[in-house]
Amino acid sequence: MTTSPTRVLVPRVVALVPAAGQGVRLAAGMPKAFVSLRGRPLIWHCVQGLVASGCVEVVVVAVDEHHHDHARAALAEAGCRVRIVTGGAHRAASVRAALCAVPDAEVVLVHDAARCLTPVSVIQAVAQAVLAGQRAVVPVLPVADTIKQVDSDGRVLGTVDRAALRVVQTPQGFAGDLLRRAHQAPCAPVTDDAGLVEALGVTVATLPGHPHAFKITTPFDLAVAEVVAGGRVAGQA
Ligand code: C5P
Repeated sequence: MTTSPTRVLVPRVVALVPAAGQGVRLAAGMPKAFVSLRGRPLIWHCVQGLVASGCVEVVVVAVDEHHHDHARAALAEAGCRVRIVTGGAHRAASVRAALCAVPDAEVVLVHDAARCLTPVSVIQAVAQAVLAGQRAVVPVLPVADTIKQVDSDGRVLGTVDRAALRVVQTPQGFAGDLLRRAHQAPCAPVTDDAGLVEALGVTVATLPGHPHAFKITTPFDLAVAEVVAGGRVAGQA
């Protein structure tokens, strides 16, 4: 008797959420991803946004080894397939661990748990750009402040032309094969995934980000997030 091979359904768009940081600057006494925003942990808000975008089939969340149960409980009713993996010592290692859980994904979005109020429209725009053929795309905003370069003593060396600068947000979107190659290549430390792709010499496209996609880093940011999230509940944003 012959048996037919098992069909494995490969998700087209997956999201990786590095959430294994300790949140030292937030100083909340717990990893930042589990800090409460309007009664729910940041990671819940983050995954809700991905699910609400309607374009993400699987979410892989990387947390530290002591928070698997906590993450599972927080994401029990996420409304899509969620996998939880153990993150690494730095952000790129956490992304790499999550990427290993979805080795065949065609499109990969990498989204910081700390940017949990990113509007659905930004998530959709990034996913659609990659599905339409962009290999790497990041949401960006113009820089509002004047930027100075300084030396190690804090003395100003010069003023940078801000017209050519952009603040970069997440989710960052990639063709899956490109992101896998970028994470395998040896590289100097980077703070985002697009940096790894740039190191390969691949062009990264940009599209408009949104102020609500700011990264919650400090207690001030968390206070701002409470106001933004409150406005959403009241239907203002
Ligand atoms: O530290 P920072 O705010 O830049 O971290 C950005 C994101 O990367 C956060 O969502 C954080 O949880 C995640 N991270 C991680 N693993 C680490 C360090 C940070 O997943 N070891």
